Amino acid sequence: MQGKLGTPQDHVKASRPRSESTRSPSTLHAGSGNSWVLFLRHTTMAAVTAAIVFGFWSTRMEWTADMRLWRAIGDAAIVLLFAALALGPAAKLSARVGKALPWRRPLGIWAALTALTHSVLIIDGWAQWSVRRFLGFEFVPQLGLEARLEPGFGLANLIGLVAVIWMIVLLATSSDRAVHFLGSTS
Ligand code: HEM
Repeated sequence: MQGKLGTPQDHVKASRPRSESTRSPSTLHAGSGNSWVLFLRHTTMAAVTAAIVFGFWSTRMEWTADMRLWRAIGDAAIVLLFAALALGPAAKLSARVGKALPWRRPLGIWAALTALTHSVLIIDGWAQWSVRRFLGFEFVPQLGLEARLEPGFGLANLIGLVAVIWMIVLLATSSDRAVHFLGSTS
């Protein structure tokens, strides 16, 4: 015999926050309208991002300063990205988590900004804007020529480049104006 909420699925449905399809784009994301709220959210995200970067940075003092910074920023980017991606599905399961949905857009924006910073620092500081260095070629004095010592390194950099390009596209469309233009299902 089934009660009012017979199946486990019914229970999940009942505890879900209001369906996303019934929300306006501005309530789904950070939303505009109140620029003070936006300012507070982004200031908070800046502080959270800095704290995550510092957390990773301070645990690997044996690395050189520049590498420690690049990698700590990369780690922060992935943490923020996972948080932004997890928030949507988690909000479907719990109404309490659903209250945090307005933070999804600021999380995504800061994930993209952090990933972009990580990418630029590495392309500038390590690859020095050289396509060959980016693809993993290094000058080997013993051979007197350039060689690709770690083939996987260039491939990993290319995958990072594709990822950051997608994140820039998402960053560029993370505004109410873009969501209205593309439609709320975008
Ligand atoms: C042009 C784009 C990118 C380039 C060239 C790049 C390059 C690199 C390089 C050279 C490393 C250090 C690897 C090592 O020393 O073994 C690294 C680490 C890392 N990258 Fe990227 N990356 C790019 C984009 C991204 C993006 C978009 C993300 C995340 C969304 C990301 C996340 C990470 C993470 C989490 C690490 C590991 C840091 C650590 O070891 O603690 N990267 N990246």
